[in-house]
Amino acid sequence: MTDAPKLRSRAWFDNPDNIDMTALYLERYLNYGLSLEELQSGRPIIGIAQTGSDLSPCNRHHLVLAERVREGIREAGGIAIEFPVHPIQETGKRPTAGLDRNLAYLGLVEALYGYPLDGVVLTIGCDKTTPACLMAAATVNIPAIALSVGPMLNGWHKGERTGSGTIVWKARQMLAAGEIDDAEFIRLVASSAPSTGYCNTMGTATTMNSLAEALGMSLPGSAAIPAPYRDRQEVAWRTGKRIVEMVAEDLKPSDILTREAFHNAIRVNSAIGGSTNAPIHLAAIARHIGVDLPVTDWEEQGHKVPLLVNLQPAGEYLGEDYYRAGGVPAVVNQLMGQGMIHEDALTVNGRTMGDNCRGTAIEDEKVIRPFDRPLKEDAGFIVLKGNLFDSAVMKTSVISEEFRARYLSNPDMPNAFEGPAVVFDGPEDYHHRIDDPATGITPETLLFMRGAGPVGYPGAAEVVNMRPPSYLITEGVHSLPCIGDGRQSGTSGSPSILNASPEAAAMGGLALLRTGDRVRIDLNKGTADVLIPDAELAERRAALTAEGGYRYPASQTPWQEIQRAVVGQMGTGAILEGAEKYQRIAQT
Ligand code: FES
Ligand code: MG
Repeated sequence: MTDAPKLRSRAWFDNPDNIDMTALYLERYLNYGLSLEELQSGRPIIGIAQTGSDLSPCNRHHLVLAERVREGIREAGGIAIEFPVHPIQETGKRPTAGLDRNLAYLGLVEALYGYPLDGVVLTIGCDKTTPACLMAAATVNIPAIALSVGPMLNGWHKGERTGSGTIVWKARQMLAAGEIDDAEFIRLVASSAPSTGYCNTMGTATTMNSLAEALGMSLPGSAAIPAPYRDRQEVAWRTGKRIVEMVAEDLKPSDILTREAFHNAIRVNSAIGGSTNAPIHLAAIARHIGVDLPVTDWEEQGHKVPLLVNLQPAGEYLGEDYYRAGGVPAVVNQLMGQGMIHEDALTVNGRTMGDNCRGTAIEDEKVIRPFDRPLKEDAGFIVLKGNLFDSAVMKTSVISEEFRARYLSNPDMPNAFEGPAVVFDGPEDYHHRIDDPATGITPETLLFMRGAGPVGYPGAAEVVNMRPPSYLITEGVHSLPCIGDGRQSGTSGSPSILNASPEAAAMGGLALLRTGDRVRIDLNKGTADVLIPDAELAERRAALTAEGGYRYPASQTPWQEIQRAVVGQMGTGAILEGAEKYQRIAQT
């Protein structure tokens, strides 16, 4: 280890210039049985940032995997120190898990910066745990490697695959139409969760774990391995071994998280049919590492990429099928064949993305399509703007034939549609009024959700994908266009226009919209406008400002208040504004 960089942990444990503090640090880390010999041997101290707990069932299997990570670390000559990350569980946290991504980030930055750690294994999985960990690793910039917990096994009900989240949207429609009762509703939804692991659909979890690999931050081929498989245990051990080598090589997040790596991830996201949460999280990681990644890159880099992965909600299959078909390397190899991947982007194993993925075969073409036989052409996001917002994204891979026929096939205005708005102020308002005929929703209506952004509904709620009222569903209208300043679950198959920035609570154009206004969406031009003269919009703005601005519910916790005061908008990652100036702080 003579050529290895000086370990930062030695400033704590082996610092002759400050023997007083060294003694103090040592005695407390010795007190559970580590030896002086180990702590002063010059071996790297490797953190295991543990996101699993009883409160975070999606990541809970990391408690088991951490044993194999430790064995890998020890075998390669390191010393493992495991510590908890603030729990985030996507579906269990009120008011929304989005609120906690920045909190977990803050806590992890303090742990990585303030303690004697030379490198870290990031245990990723449930939606927000992945970006929280990668954002913190970007800020601190010590050697870091991500280990996915892996998806659950496939869910089944009466011989059909039931996918996490996606089955919920379907079951809600069935319940609203009176096809199932409450008990069947619960049984159907529970069938989608047969084992430990994260959501088995191409929701935000599978998306972000796939993108962590596409960014180069986890071992090749590791993202898709289902949680209970033996291969998952093996890759945990290899991840532990590898982080020790990365410390010796001084291979840091800033070497891996380049602009090219982010563009690789955007293209992979299109090909896998990834979540609309990805632009928010990738923007956040990019800002913390200091890479310029405007939201328009999603359309420029990603829109022309076809959909190759046939997973719910855009397709049919689930996580086990994705792994068996070849996972991320098989997808990357298809894109590489078209020159769509920056092949020399470096990854955590010390090799390039091209070297890792070149020649990876597709093992099942029903699940991962070859590039020349995609599920859909041009499957990436479209980025829209207009007088309602500066940016919003639309996931085109989930546009159904029904939606295309109803809204995008008018010969007078191809790829554009227009209609009267019905506006909801937050999810509670929507749940109250959606089925009430007095709300006035017709098959022509465009549904708007506002007050659901990072400030309005702190953290931004996943509520933009609204179902039509039950009286329309029973008449065969299964979806209406949905637009809003909130997010949407990655498990939803709705082609909503979402992540609108700035949000109503920040006095974006949505705050001025009224039920009955006509709105025009034009996908060719990438515009979304309320058809009202600028002068009237200015009057509405002045009147609302005089009333004190757009109203939203009061904070319920201290963190809600703190986050609301400093959080940015989704178009730029919804990070804590001001935090991005602390970049690569372990080197300072
Ligand atoms: Fe945790 Fe989907 S709710 S992964
Ligand atoms: Mg989610």
